[in-house]
Amino acid sequence: MKALILAGGKGTRLRPITFSMAKQLVPVANKPVIEYGIESIVNAGIRDFGIIVGDTAKEVEAALGDGSRWGARFTFIPQPEPLGLAHAVATAKDYLGDEEFIMYLGDNLIKTDVGEFVREFERHRPAATILLTPVPNPSEFGVAEMDGERVVRLEEKPKEPKSNLALVGVYLFDKRIHESISRLKPSWRGEYEITDAIQGLIEAGCEVRSHVVRGWWKDTGTVEAMLEANRLILEDLEPRIEADVDAESRIEGRVTLGEGTVVEGSTIRGPVAIGKGCSIVGSYVGPFTSIADNVQLVGTEIENSIVLQDSRLSRVPSRIEGSLIGRGVTVVCQGRVPRSIQIVMGDSGSLSLP
Ligand code: DAU
Repeated sequence: MKALILAGGKGTRLRPITFSMAKQLVPVANKPVIEYGIESIVNAGIRDFGIIVGDTAKEVEAALGDGSRWGARFTFIPQPEPLGLAHAVATAKDYLGDEEFIMYLGDNLIKTDVGEFVREFERHRPAATILLTPVPNPSEFGVAEMDGERVVRLEEKPKEPKSNLALVGVYLFDKRIHESISRLKPSWRGEYEITDAIQGLIEAGCEVRSHVVRGWWKDTGTVEAMLEANRLILEDLEPRIEADVDAESRIEGRVTLGEGTVVEGSTIRGPVAIGKGCSIVGSYVGPFTSIADNVQLVGTEIENSIVLQDSRLSRVPSRIEGSLIGRGVTVVCQGRVPRSIQIVMGDSGSLSLP
């Protein structure tokens, strides 16, 4: 079995972070979201990966390399335009040949291991297996109409959804999907929808199996959603301390501290992930916080937040909560009077002061 990872498309919903970053590379608990999917597929024993890339091809290729980091082989497949998920599969047709494949949308995060679905697919050999999860806002997804265990109908972003079961961005297919894709017409949003191609399989009488999974995240363009993904992953964090921690500091609960990080006179209360080369001085880092590499925290309290690499937060007078801080950001309190503030912030930034 091969893998097809979709890392093309345009990342307009996660702004401002995706102004300068491919959405599949947005870090969750200090790891690009796409890497969770890759790891899960490698763990299922699959080594051959086709990776669909678009406008951000260079960045994605530089971040992932040739796959040797995972003992895998990556083939990057440029998609000239993001014309839909089924179009991405058609673009990869030569690469896929007649093989069965698992397709993974690079901006999705599922906590469930895909191995069991791969084994089950190989045992039963259906035309397709889809994963479903209940959501409060089904009209924003592909939605499955069920008759007991059986998938009766699939509809992409329906105005009046027939159920609350959304299609999760992980699919398993055999070669019959290519024929179904070749019969597709663009949808109302002008895309060749994989949802319609699977519906075509159902109509042709092919077997389409489904599983309901929990622990899934998909970007919805809000800071809250990213913090939720961060919490989802941090809940299962394996503690690992590679940093220098002085005697005045306290590390409580599940915490990872990367190489070259220094912690002085600080309290870190997990689950917390802190990257490499950070300096945490006289600070408090509270639960569900991820801090990327080379971040400096001085005299600052922060919790339930994400800080990306190379940022510096110094003597911030209030506790930072529920925040998403980009790369190379500086927040410094000078403590001088009069108490004025100076702001230099990029497009779509937001600052909330008490
Ligand atoms: O996330 C689950 C949903 O993903 C499903 O419920 C929907 O049925 C499915 O159509 C898809 O919906 P989205 O509209 O949210 O997909 P999006 O445009 O965000 O693309 C998903 C991933 O695929 C993303 O990493 C970008 C990549 N992509 C997308 C398109 C349209 C490509 O590589 N090429 C493309 O042409």
